This record gives sequence, structure tokens and C-alpha cells, in this order.
Amino acid sequence: MKKKEIELKYKKLIVLFKKYNKHYFEKSSPLVSDKKYDELKKNILSLEKKNIFLNSKDSPSKTVGFKPAKNFKKALHRAPMLSLSNAFSETDLLNFEKKILNFLNKKNNFELSYSAEPKIDGISASLSYKNGKLEKGLSRGDGKEGEDITANLLTISDIPHTISSNDFPEEIDIRGEIFIKNTDFELLKDKFANPRNAASGSLRQKNPEDTKKIPLKFIAYTFGFEKGLNVDNQFEFLKKLDQWGFKTNPLNQLIIGIKNLIKNYEEIEKKRANLDFDIDGIVYKINDFVLQKRLGYVANAPRWAIAHKFSSNKAISEILDIDIQIGRTGALTPVAKIKPINIGGVLVSNATLHNEDEIKRKDIRIGDTVTVERAGDVIPHILSVHIEKRPKKSIKFLFPDKCPSCGSETLKEFNSVTKKNDAVRRCSSEGYFCNKMSIEKLKHFVSKEAFNIDGFGKKIVESFWKLNLVKFPQDIFNLDYDKIEKLEGWGRLSVENLKYSINDKKKISLEKFIYALGIRHIGLENAKLIAKYFGSFLKFKELSKTKKYKDLLNIDGIGETQVNSITNFFSNNTNLEVINKLGNLLTISNLISNKKNKSLQNKTFLVTGKLNGISRAEIKSLIEEHSGIIVSGVSKKLNYLIVGEKPTKRKIESAEQLKTNIINQEEFLKMLDKTS
Ligand code: IVH
Repeated sequence: MKKKEIELKYKKLIVLFKKYNKHYFEKSSPLVSDKKYDELKKNILSLEKKNIFLNSKDSPSKTVGFKPAKNFKKALHRAPMLSLSNAFSETDLLNFEKKILNFLNKKNNFELSYSAEPKIDGISASLSYKNGKLEKGLSRGDGKEGEDITANLLTISDIPHTISSNDFPEEIDIRGEIFIKNTDFELLKDKFANPRNAASGSLRQKNPEDTKKIPLKFIAYTFGFEKGLNVDNQFEFLKKLDQWGFKTNPLNQLIIGIKNLIKNYEEIEKKRANLDFDIDGIVYKINDFVLQKRLGYVANAPRWAIAHKFSSNKAISEILDIDIQIGRTGALTPVAKIKPINIGGVLVSNATLHNEDEIKRKDIRIGDTVTVERAGDVIPHILSVHIEKRPKKSIKFLFPDKCPSCGSETLKEFNSVTKKNDAVRRCSSEGYFCNKMSIEKLKHFVSKEAFNIDGFGKKIVESFWKLNLVKFPQDIFNLDYDKIEKLEGWGRLSVENLKYSINDKKKISLEKFIYALGIRHIGLENAKLIAKYFGSFLKFKELSKTKKYKDLLNIDGIGETQVNSITNFFSNNTNLEVINKLGNLLTISNLISNKKNKSLQNKTFLVTGKLNGISRAEIKSLIEEHSGIIVSGVSKKLNYLIVGEKPTKRKIESAEQLKTNIINQEEFLKMLDKTS
């Protein structure tokens, strides 16, 4: 790479880093996981290491945290609040110790003592005491300058306002972590992504009365500026903190040697799920203050301390229960309810167990201690069981042979293609006989790709189901609005809105209607093929009489699996009743292709960004209904780029270069108006 390219790459990473910091520190809502954030930091640091000309003032090697928010008064820290370097492995720790021994000019067998302190994942604060009185409390801010949050800190009961011990220094800045217990977070979890954000958000309330409402905790662990502190080492300092009335971490330990640090790390990692506060690693500090002083600092971190981080996408927890969830097609999915644990910034309390075979294979049981992994946006899953931790009375998990919802037999179907039994066990009942299956079918019916009824989400389906307002899809179009208006949380206006959204969807295309029925193996694409084949709702409905199911095999893309599923569906009387009743209530438009509007013929479209009130699926079908074509990227072949909210800049730039027509949603809809 040329120098210019490297500089450009570096600049881009710094801009991203600043953006992530802003969200994390100023808005208390991280944009990316801790893992992604750490990776970015690592990339920047390694670029700097290889190219000494890279030197931004916003580099993670120079900054700690982020400039304080504008709405609090700012104040300088008397001694900077530093950051810590990270270690992820035993090798990192061995290197850390080796560097220290080199620096101190000590032999390799010199024994170093460490204060090992679980690193609470909260918000650090610095409390300035003068003559035993708390005078000022600052947030970390950028490490040099913090926000004056004294009034809010004073509401925290763990923070002493006055200290009268004789040996309390004349002046000292006590530093520690503000956090919120996981059990207290339970009540706030609708508002914040994790306990750390909840603590940060509460601390930064404008009105201290609002902070007071949140049970914030404070644990002390270090000091900044001091006058008159008479202590030789960190562990003794921690003891003093206790005596002066501060809370300290009960898991702090004095440890000699890297091997023992690792042992302690492993023990604490196992305890982690049972703690009532989040920790993301262990901080090791050279215990002796004289050595600390000699070692000093590099950039913005001390040479005498390091944070040994837990791996951020895995954590150990305990299975409290195994729930069996029933899907729309009757599939029984086991889900482990685990002791909530923070994995990479997200509080995880469920982990999928996939299916019965997976439970058998790993012999997963209730009460087991397990390693849970969360990768990207996928549902967390159980990686392994810690057999040695299994309680003596533990028993094998028996997968239910009856559906937990309706009591019907559960079966593993024989797959004629693979000639094996499916891994998935299913409820054998006729769909609407099983309550759980019915609820899931209704959720599917109103979902985005199906009827897409505005304001009729999963929660409403569940609550209306419980109140006997909907049991079958046709009930949605015959709702008792007077009853709904009297329900808690509903009023005239919201009912009017709901009525409007439902009536709006009484006109539907045949393909969406078929998809909404939720026939197993019939997704959007297959529904489209079937709709095209029949051409009208009446012809589709007749299938129950003609029973020419096998004819469907003539459709390119439809195979035996789908045909069997359709045959089953049509041989169920409840399903036929649903189809008939919906047929009477709705206008199901005959298939588009027969009288397809040709107005957008041969024109290609691409959407970037979020559209207002129209789903991607709907835009796609609108374009297709008008014979237009959706393409997947900007190229010479693209005729129109439809731009919504927060579009991808790169797409717009490329479209501009290629002189492609760039239009907004309104302009696109006008194109349809003119032509249909
Ligand atoms: S000592 C000079 N001790 O970790 C050393 N920090 O990335 C810096 N933290 O800002 C502080 N537990 O928010 C120290 N026992 C502990 C800690 C701890 C948590 C946090 C603190 C600090 C960050 C460093």
C-alpha cells in the first residue's frame, strides 16, 4: 500500500472510532459489540505501529473515553484517569511480566505480587475528598477532563459523604466503578441494552432526583491525586478503603506468579454467571507502590497494570430450565433458560438447543453449567457442558413425546429424500387444534411479508388470543372493536387506526394470501409460483374439490415435499373453513401476471435505505406487478435507484457516476400512479 492509501485507510478507521466512542460514552448506546470495538482499536494500533507517520490526536493510543457531554459543567482531573492495556491469553500475560522484569532489571525468577481485581463493567468516577468531606465527583470524560456529576453521585448510598477516620488522607481522589446490579437491571431492561448503559444513562440524568430512583452502586479500587496517603501497596490500600467505609470487590485477591493468575482467572470466569454484577475481565496491578512508581506509564496506560479480558462472545452460565417452544408448523424447539449473563454487551437469558438430537448428543440437562456462545445476530447457543460441575442428583432431559401445548403425539417425520427420520420433532395435531401452533400461525398471517397489518404485531396477537378476540385468521376481519376500545392501553383513536389498517388489507394479492395461510414448505417464492399457476382465488380454492394435487408437480420449482404439504393442508377441514371464510371477507386479486401492468417493463430498480410505510417486500412486489425488475447492485444496467432514509452513500455515489436516475419514494410512487 502507498503512503496516501495507508493514510486514507487510517483516517477512515479513526472516523469510525470517534463515531463509536460518541455513541458509547456520550449517548450510552453502543453502535457495535465490545468485540467489534476492540477489533477496530487493535487495527488502528497495529497500523500505527507499522507506520510511524500515522499520528491522530483521536487515536486510541492518545484518547481515553470521549469528551464529556455539553450539558454538565466540566472540570479537570488533578491526576489523569488512565486506561488499561488488555491481555487475552497466558502468552500476553507472560509478555507483560517479562517486560516489567526487564524494565526493573530483575532476574526471571523474581517473584512479583499482583493485586487481582475483577473488572466491573460499569462507569468510572473520581471522588475528590478534602479533610474527609466529599467535595466534587467527576466522570472520566476524556481522562483529562470530566463532567461534574457531584449532585448525581451524592444520591448513591455506597458513596460516603464524610469520612472521619484518622488515617484518611487530607486530600485524595478516590476512584472506582459505578454500576447497577443485574437483578435491579431486570426492571430497566426495556429502556437499556445492558446494565452498563443503564448505569451510564442514570448517572447522566439532568435531575439528581431521577438518578436517585435507580439503585446505583459504587466499588472503589484506586486513587488519583493524594496528599497524606500513608500506604505501601495496592492490597493494603484496598483494605484501607474498606475501613474508611467504601465498598470494595469481595473477589479481590493478592496473587504471586502468572500460573496462579490464570488459575484465579479460570475460577472467576466460572463464578461469573452467578455474580450479580457484570465483569468483563480481571485487572492485575503490581502490588508494590514503589515498583509501580518506577514502572510509570506508557501513552495513556500504566506499565504496572493490565486487564485480562474474558473472551467476549462466550460466557459460562447455568441452565435453569428447558422450555419447549412450538412453531407455526408444529416443530418443537427446545430453548435453554439460562442465568442471565452479559456476552459482548448483550444480556443473554435464552440459548437455543436446536432440537431433540442436539440435546441427546451433548447430554444437556437442567442444572448444568454450560459455555454459551453468541456470534453476530444469531440466537445464542450452548457450546459445551461442564460435566465436572454437574449436580449429583441431575437427571437426563426427557424430550416430551406429547405436545406440551395440546397433548397430541409428537412425531419425527420420515424424510423420503434423505431416507432418514427428521431431527425435528413435531406436534401431530391439525394446526388450529393446538393453541401454540394457532398463535404462531396468526403471527405469521399478520406478518410483514403476508398481510402486513400495521399495528397488529406479535404482542397484539397474543393478547387478543388470550381475550378470545381472535382464534382464526378470519376473526381478524370481524373484530369486536367496542370491546377492544375498553381494554387497558386502547382508546378511540388507536382503535380507529387499527380498524383502518385492517380494512386497508382486505384487498390482497393471491400470492400473499397463499403465503399468509402458512402452509408448510410454501414460502413467498413458492406461493408466487402457485398463484401464477392457478391465476385466481376461485381456481386455487377448487383444489380441495378437484384434488388434483399431483398436477402441481408440473410447476417448475414445486416438488414432492411441497405437494405432500399442500395435500395435507387441503385435507384438513379447519383449513378449508379458514380459506372459505376469508374468501367471503376479502377481495383476493386475481393474479397479476394475467393482466400484468407493463408500465415498468424492462426497467430495473434498486432500493437503498429505509422507506416510509412500505416494506422492502411490498416495493419489490409493486415493481414486479408493473413488470419492472429488481437488481442487486448499482451497475450500468440499473435504471432507477430509489433512495430512502439512511441510504448507503456508496450506492448513491456510484449511481451519480453512472448517471443513473436517482429518485425518492414519492417519485417512484408517482411513476406507478401515472401508469396504473
Ligand atoms: S484501575 C490506572 N482497577 O477499567 C489504572 N480500573 O480500562 C486504571 N476498572 O477506567 C484504573 N475495575 O473503568 C482499575 N479494579 C479496577 C477496575 C478498573 C474496573 C475499569 C475502570 C477503568 C478501566 C480501564
